[in-house]
Amino acid sequence: MQRIIQVGLGAMGQGWANCVAQSERWEATAYVDVNRKRLAAAAERHGMPRNRCFRDLKTALGSVEADAVLDVTPQQTRRDVCATALEYGLHVLCEKPLADTVKNAVALTEQARSVNRTLMVAQNYRYQPATQTAKRFIARGRLGKVGYVGVSFHKGPHFGGYREQMPYPLLLDMAIHHFDMMRCILGGDVAAVQGTSINAPWNWNRGDATVSAFLEMSDGVGVNYFASWVSQGWETDWNANWRIEGEKGVLLIEDSQVYIADKCATRRRVAPVKMAHTHQAWLLDGFATALEKKVEPDTSAGNNLNSLMTTHAMTRAVEEQRRVRVEELLQ
Ligand SMILES: NC(=O)c1ccc[n+]([C@@H]2O[C@H](COP(=O)([O-])OP(=O)(O)OC[C@H]3O[C@@H](n4cnc5c(N)ncnc54)[C@H](O)[C@@H]3O)[C@@H](O)[C@H]2O)c1
Repeated sequence: MQRIIQVGLGAMGQGWANCVAQSERWEATAYVDVNRKRLAAAAERHGMPRNRCFRDLKTALGSVEADAVLDVTPQQTRRDVCATALEYGLHVLCEKPLADTVKNAVALTEQARSVNRTLMVAQNYRYQPATQTAKRFIARGRLGKVGYVGVSFHKGPHFGGYREQMPYPLLLDMAIHHFDMMRCILGGDVAAVQGTSINAPWNWNRGDATVSAFLEMSDGVGVNYFASWVSQGWETDWNANWRIEGEKGVLLIEDSQVYIADKCATRRRVAPVKMAHTHQAWLLDGFATALEKKVEPDTSAGNNLNSLMTTHAMTRAVEEQRRVRVEELLQ
């Protein structure tokens, strides 16, 4: 068992705390949250002793032994939390996005490299049967060469809190899952983006929460991405619905099921990849394996930068109404 300090016990943190409690490879050795009530509630639920509950990470790091930190705080505090953990020589598994800005994400990536520690991003949408099934189907050449892709996402969550105050809540908080899925399923990076944001008349967020965008993958595949967080009915699921057009047919992801259609009006279900763990449980397992085998995870900070930069390239494209190359974000 490796020992992990969990920082952040809010909405998502509660789910992580349950997963860590069920993990055969990690034990929670301390909880940290600036919010006393959330800290106490999580401690009570999981039997964490009082002397292992802290209001700030530095005190926790000075008081308990640990191998890693799990950062489930919002993106605005990511740099501080991860940088502190790395400074104390710990490995880090952090929630998405890797940071609130590209500058902070690059700084964390460089810090992790310089101290030779693993900083892995929790891009859980990769680690579920729908994504892995589509990825494998394409990687085995069963769709032939991919030409273009359409992604359609419609949800209407009322989160309250910091998300509803963000300038582009959908792009800055959610879309990274879909951009990262694109990279995983299609097996390449995003090279350039264009887009327009839409402020639906009933939008309850401060910033626009609907986007119509076009992404160019590094091998030339074009992705039409329409996504909204203010849908008023008939929502898609969180993975979005996908239509991937290839030489040999169309691969569809609908309601998290994968279908192949190589004739006009029929489609058949593709047998899903079997996975012993999915989502957060996979990430905990994958993190432990990466540390044990000393290998770089697929969602290490360095590998994840393209997903993060894509979200910021997209907000720039929307604001400046032009095609933005993702690499521009590093200049
Ligand atoms: N992978 C997913 O599917 C998924 C889903 C939801 C949220 N998330 C991500 O999880 C992260 C947290 O989101 P959430 O919805 O749980 O937010 P939240 O606001 O509900 O919870 C965040 C918690 O962090 C605590 N916190 C803030 N700053 C802190 C600090 N410096 N030290 C210690 N504790 C601190 C807050 O008090 C709060 O309890 C975000 O990055 C979000 O994008 C991921």
